[in-house]
Amino acid sequence: MEKQFSNKEVVDMVHKANAKAHDYHSEMHDRNVPYIHRPSTRAYYWQLLKDACNNSGKDFKNASVLEVGCGTGTFTDLVLLNGASKFYGIDLSPKMINVARLKTKDSRAVYEVAALEFFADKHKNEFDIIFSASFLHHLVDIEQGVQLIKSMLKPGGVYVGLHEPTTSRRFTVIERVDNDLQYLFGYSGSIYTPLHTRIKNLLKNVVISISMRVKALNFLLDGYIKTKKYIKHKLGISGSLTGEDIQTESRVNYVDYQLNNEFSLIKKIGSFGKVVPYCYLGFVELMKISKPLNHEMFIMVNKK
Ligand SMILES: C[S@@+](CC[C@H](N)C(=O)[O-])C[C@H]1O[C@@H](n2cnc3c(N)ncnc32)[C@H](O)[C@@H]1O
Repeated sequence: MEKQFSNKEVVDMVHKANAKAHDYHSEMHDRNVPYIHRPSTRAYYWQLLKDACNNSGKDFKNASVLEVGCGTGTFTDLVLLNGASKFYGIDLSPKMINVARLKTKDSRAVYEVAALEFFADKHKNEFDIIFSASFLHHLVDIEQGVQLIKSMLKPGGVYVGLHEPTTSRRFTVIERVDNDLQYLFGYSGSIYTPLHTRIKNLLKNVVISISMRVKALNFLLDGYIKTKKYIKHKLGISGSLTGEDIQTESRVNYVDYQLNNEFSLIKKIGSFGKVVPYCYLGFVELMKISKPLNHEMFIMVNKK
């Protein structure tokens, strides 16, 4: 019979899996996420966030701000530069929080390894602005999560949940080109790096990666031949090893947003606030050619 989980057990499991997965990603996170490492993309997302707050009557100046699921503290410097009086960043992953702490040396910024579900109770009516990026889909109970976030907002406070993918949409040609460009140039500098330098870097990487592969192949072949010889001469046997002899590391069970496989902001929490579609591209320059509405942000004002 399938095991029945109580809600608390599922939440614990998802928290553990999330912390583990994001601990693993912490070192490469900033290199992988275009809105962190590409200045133009970062500026675009910051503008989206700022506009969403301003249009809902909140400014970062003198505001107390919380980011839930802050990861490596993507926007902390900009929040502080825009005059926030206090910035809290919470995340489940200790390694993400470590990276965030290393990046921010401002005493107004406080980071804590904490889950939204447990942090909220101790911080009622405390924040003017709460935001998150690429976070809501990690929650076991998104409705409850949004209610917890609301409970931490002061009256008139604003929550903006950025960067949530819309469901059931096919990629446009521009989005696919954007994806490929990410692979080609995403990790080798910003758009401000001249094209010829980016192409030179790309070629250099290709040459390096081909020569690495040749070396690795050589190494493996060498090892294989030596092992074969060893088995044949020292152990006096020949023939291949059977499947049972091969040890494989057991795979980690990754419990996460699979629990919410049909994730839709409108369906789940649309009644709590506004769901605004916008364009998500790594190379925002491509927006000049096409404006796909492939992502959504969620905006909620605590009217009480
Ligand atoms: C996809 S990452 C995004 C990180 C960062 N906001 C960014 O945009 O670069 C989502 C983050 O949310 C954190 N997280 C997931 N569930 C959480 C929860 N219940 N409470 C606090 N943090 C959580 C994860 O550990 C992870 O670092």
